[in-house]
Amino acid sequence: MMGESYDDASHWQQGMARRWHSVVTEGMIKTLKGERERGNQGPVWALDCGCGHGTATEAMMAAVLNAMQEHRDEIGGHLRCLCVIHNDLPSNRWSELFNTVNGPWGYAAEGPPTAMAFASGKTMYERQAPDESLHLVVAFTSIHWMDHQPRPLSDGLVFQCSTDTEATQAWLQVKQREWETFLRLRSAELVPGGRIVVSWVETEEGGGGKFKAIHNVMNIMADDGWVSRETAKKACFPATLLPMATLLEPWEGIDGRPTTSGPLPLPAPHRELPLQLEAVWTEDTNPAQQHTETSDDDQEADDAHFDKLVSSVRGWTEGMVTSFMVDDHQEAGGHHDAADSVDGVAAKVEQFYVTLREELVRINGHKDAPLGIKNNVFVIKKI
Ligand SMILES: C[S@@+](CC[C@H](N)C(=O)[O-])C[C@H]1O[C@@H](n2cnc3c(N)ncnc32)[C@H](O)[C@@H]1O
Repeated sequence: MMGESYDDASHWQQGMARRWHSVVTEGMIKTLKGERERGNQGPVWALDCGCGHGTATEAMMAAVLNAMQEHRDEIGGHLRCLCVIHNDLPSNRWSELFNTVNGPWGYAAEGPPTAMAFASGKTMYERQAPDESLHLVVAFTSIHWMDHQPRPLSDGLVFQCSTDTEATQAWLQVKQREWETFLRLRSAELVPGGRIVVSWVETEEGGGGKFKAIHNVMNIMADDGWVSRETAKKACFPATLLPMATLLEPWEGIDGRPTTSGPLPLPAPHRELPLQLEAVWTEDTNPAQQHTETSDDDQEADDAHFDKLVSSVRGWTEGMVTSFMVDDHQEAGGHHDAADSVDGVAAKVEQFYVTLREELVRINGHKDAPLGIKNNVFVIKKI
């Protein structure tokens, strides 16, 4: 399991993304119908912000290409080439991504005139494309990652479970500014009539049991002598889940969370930018249950459930956990012998996931329980 790819351990994130393919493709087709009226016929450009290692972005762009082929007559009579800029941080597994999207079953397998894949390896809080060049922007389960982390949470790993109000307020402000920056940059890059489709997760008040378990792990490891108190205090995952109301703030005429899921009765205008909010989709997700192995034995099924959860968390945390442990090891003077140091770090990383599993089992009363996560999607149109 060590070093497992995000793609192998992110079934529920991928399931959530698949759930919204029809919303993404509908946005793209509407945009291209509008372009046809204006006579534009060149390549179609899409940007996937925080695309990950390949599987999710491949499935999304394959759905977009299929929709363009199905609606060929309505969008111009001939197939426009779909050009996709896959965006993620420089450390992304780019070779895995290109092997997937250009591989025999990838959306870009045939190359032009059908489709082509490109990449932009830099933060999504910078420009990715020229002015008025993009038809579609998607950002799936990625806008919660902070580009800048103002100060560590003093009490644990997870923002939504922290009681450190000074730190969480500072994080919220930074994240809000990042959201505004994201909208401003994408607004400049989109063609008139282009769409942004953004998805993100919300957790129950206080974070819910799964996140509480993650929040506690470094403190438990410090109690048990595996890491120093200083490391436990400094270590936190730089992700902030903005409340729906804060994400909606830039738009006029929206009072709190919409009561229904889907298109708004009237699109809401952005206060400053030429962006209209067209739809807000929201639904409860319990992805863990979709993937729990079926077993006649309850105990076995619960074990499989917790194994799957740990493996899923491991998919997105392992790099960060390893860097916490490297820092801790160096502070403790464990860097004299390189081999010992590697073993020491690996042992602490393994202990992290053993502790996490025990904590998940304890907090959830030894039973499979709902994740307590909502999945939300905004559809935004450039006017
Ligand atoms: C949970 S994964 C989502 C991957 C994929 N979109 C999906 O739906 O499965 C979040 C991705 O966002 C990327 N990410 C985090 N911060 C980013 C930033 N500032 N700019 C671009 N990508 C970022 C991470 O590297 C990671 O690949």
